[in-house]
Amino acid sequence: MLPQSPSIASKVDILIVDDEPTNLRVLSTIVRSHGYQVRQATSGIVALRAIRIQPPDLILLDILMPEMDGYQVCEQLKSNSQTRDIPIIFLSSLVSGMDKAKAFQLGGADYIAKPFQIEEVLARIDYQLTLRTLQVQLQHKNEQLREQNEQLKQEMKIRQQTEVELRLSEAQLQARTQQLQQALDELKLTQTQLVQSEKMSSLGRIAAGIAHEINNPIGFIYGNLDYASEYMKVLRNIINLYNQHYPQPHPEILNTIQVSELDFVLQDFPKVLESMQVGAERIRDIVLSMRYFSSGEQAYTQQDDIHKGLDSALVILQSRIKEQTNRVAIEVKKEYGEIPSVNCYPGQLNHVFMNLLSNAVDAIEEKLKILEEPFHPVIKICTQLSNSSKECQDQNIKWVEIRIVDNGIGIGPQIQSSIFDPFFTTKPVGKGTGLGLFISYSIIVEQHGGQLLCNSEIGKGTEILIRLPVEVPQAVKSGYH
Ligand SMILES: Nc1ncnc2c1ncn2[C@@H]1O[C@H](COP(=O)(O)OP(=O)(O)OP(=O)(O)O)[C@@H](O)[C@H]1O
Ligand SMILES: [Mg+2]
Repeated sequence: MLPQSPSIASKVDILIVDDEPTNLRVLSTIVRSHGYQVRQATSGIVALRAIRIQPPDLILLDILMPEMDGYQVCEQLKSNSQTRDIPIIFLSSLVSGMDKAKAFQLGGADYIAKPFQIEEVLARIDYQLTLRTLQVQLQHKNEQLREQNEQLKQEMKIRQQTEVELRLSEAQLQARTQQLQQALDELKLTQTQLVQSEKMSSLGRIAAGIAHEINNPIGFIYGNLDYASEYMKVLRNIINLYNQHYPQPHPEILNTIQVSELDFVLQDFPKVLESMQVGAERIRDIVLSMRYFSSGEQAYTQQDDIHKGLDSALVILQSRIKEQTNRVAIEVKKEYGEIPSVNCYPGQLNHVFMNLLSNAVDAIEEKLKILEEPFHPVIKICTQLSNSSKECQDQNIKWVEIRIVDNGIGIGPQIQSSIFDPFFTTKPVGKGTGLGLFISYSIIVEQHGGQLLCNSEIGKGTEILIRLPVEVPQAVKSGYH
């Protein structure tokens, strides 16, 4: 260990190499007297051996020696990594002849000229030892820094690795979230379709049940009305004959004729039968519509009567369209144009008409609830064949256009983009499921290759436009199951 103060100088090991015994003794005495531990070597070879056994902290090395001079010893020491750093102070009496440049070139730390001056020798030894101590400290610091650097590098590597792993697991998480979201969306979609088809099929079942139940009794009424009318004619004829041949009937008969206002009865009876006929015909139409609606034709067929589908939906909704205790009737204006038959799923289309028409009724009822001044509610249904738009001409297609226009509450711009989303509803819980437009959209767009567009102004009303291609793209037809 190297000394930094005289108190630890005794631990400092100095090797003095000189072939001159007197010099060796004098120098050793001086150095030792200052608390250093001294070893001696009388030749270069002995010195090298001693150094190999125990490297000293400093070497005082004579230059001129027989066999192996100081330069050679220095050269050997500097070429060995074990001894390279031991400070060497050259000793020489050849002040002028000493090759100082060579001494420094070979790695000598300093030189002392003979004859020695005690203070100089000690000062140079002290200086070299301090320098060596500082060097060692510096090396130590460097070593520490290198270690810290290495540690930092390791940490950085670990951090980078962790970051990569983190990014990877983040990406995996994202992918998983995406998968889950997709699964959730699919689940929602399936659920909506289930709910809607359940809703429509139970509506269809109810309609079919009612139609079936009413069909027979209305058949009796309708079928017997002709007989009733015939029988009435017969009875009227007989009464007329009685009048002719017995102008003066029994007073009791006369009295009964007057009390029962026979003239009025005879006059009114045909009208009663007639209105019964009209009513029965109406019921029969309703039954037919209900049957048509509930037959829910699921197959992809050529539908030549879109209007029939619209009318049957209107019949089903009749109870909501007509006058209610708290509001006037909704006027239904039909502007049916000449339209060709389209390939479609008629049952599905009827569901769309039902959804759109009931939305229109809801929108009107909503407006009636909040409007103070009188207002005439109208639902307009227009159909036409269109091939005038640029899109039609570009793609050489024709659309059958069905417009359902209401003058109800309208849709605010902030929610217009959401109305086709599943479960989006502004209606109170239990009233709307928010599926009507979503299902309608998928029926028209996905199943029929058509378009479903909405144009609405808040407070004024809404127009929903259905466009069905007259020639449906093949992919759409085969894509439906
Ligand atoms: N003709 C319309 N006028 C005004 N708002 C409408 C009209 N049609 C749809 N909307 C708005 O779009 C929303 C979504 O309509 P959608 O038919 O999908 O669901 P819903 O009618 O609320 O419920 P349901 O599933 O019973 O049909 C409605 O809640 C309503 O706010
Ligand atoms: Mg709806």
